[in-house]
Amino acid sequence: MKFLYICLLAILHLSQGKRVLGPLQSYEAPSSRIIGGQDAAIGSAPYQVSLQQVVGSHSCGGAIINERWVITAGHCVEIYVPAQINVVTGTNRYAEPGAVYQTSEIHLHCMYDQPYMHNDIALLKLTENITFNELTQPIDLPRRPVREGDEIVLTGWGAEEPYGRPQEDLQELALGFVRLDECKEIFNQTTSMGVGHICTFSEAGEGACHGDSGGPLVSNSCLVGLVNWGRPCGQGLPDVQANVYYYLDWIRSVISGNSKCST
Ligand SMILES: *[C@@H]1O[C@H](CO)[C@@H](O)[C@H](O)[C@H]1NC(C)=O
Ligand SMILES: *[C@@H]1O[C@H](CO)[C@@H](O)[C@H](O)[C@H]1NC(C)=O
Repeated sequence: MKFLYICLLAILHLSQGKRVLGPLQSYEAPSSRIIGGQDAAIGSAPYQVSLQQVVGSHSCGGAIINERWVITAGHCVEIYVPAQINVVTGTNRYAEPGAVYQTSEIHLHCMYDQPYMHNDIALLKLTENITFNELTQPIDLPRRPVREGDEIVLTGWGAEEPYGRPQEDLQELALGFVRLDECKEIFNQTTSMGVGHICTFSEAGEGACHGDSGGPLVSNSCLVGLVNWGRPCGQGLPDVQANVYYYLDWIRSVISGNSKCST
């Protein structure tokens, strides 16, 4: 029901001429694929996690940034309490966990969705350390902003069609970077996009879709983005992602326990 509410909100905004549709979390159990991608090689994205309210049912992606912390999109966790969020690691098949971890704290960005669709980022603290192995590893945070010419790899279990079910096998897709000014132009200067976002694109028929939300975009072995929103799916428009580089200070302050803004 709550997902439906989010869905209706998005449609409402669309009908009001806001010209955006998102977010891209999965809508129903047994939950949600990248459009136009291919099966990811086993162990090629060891930082990828699946967020599951009911173990076995995928709702959103995320990424491991260290032993205790996972990062995702704000809209993936805003309606939950920590006990409802299971983090599945170490697998290319979300229904066959390598391990399942519980969440002890949700840190939603204090300016999440203010303005609308901005600061869509959250950190999850786990109740125990993640055990690292060949299939389970953290991803480095970026040391520089992503720029034109960088290859970006998106991974996720998101649907092949809008509001569809997740794909059983993790998908991957190579994307290019689209400059923010260009992206804003494409979206007719939407106020739902700003410095906290990056845009990615390859070609029509490819891109993020429902169930990819919160999932990682990696470039030069660093986490550069988290799936935020788009017009589903693969309609020939860029997808809009949280700009991890922009949020580095926020990430570090939350993890060090110095953030004044947490829930
Ligand atoms: C968790 O990992 C951190 C960082 O490596 C370490 O300092 C800490 O002792 C570990 N905690 C437990 C309970 O293993
Ligand atoms: C931007 O506006 C033009 C003209 O109204 C429209 O055709 C186009 O679909 C709009 N772009 C988006 C992404 O909504």
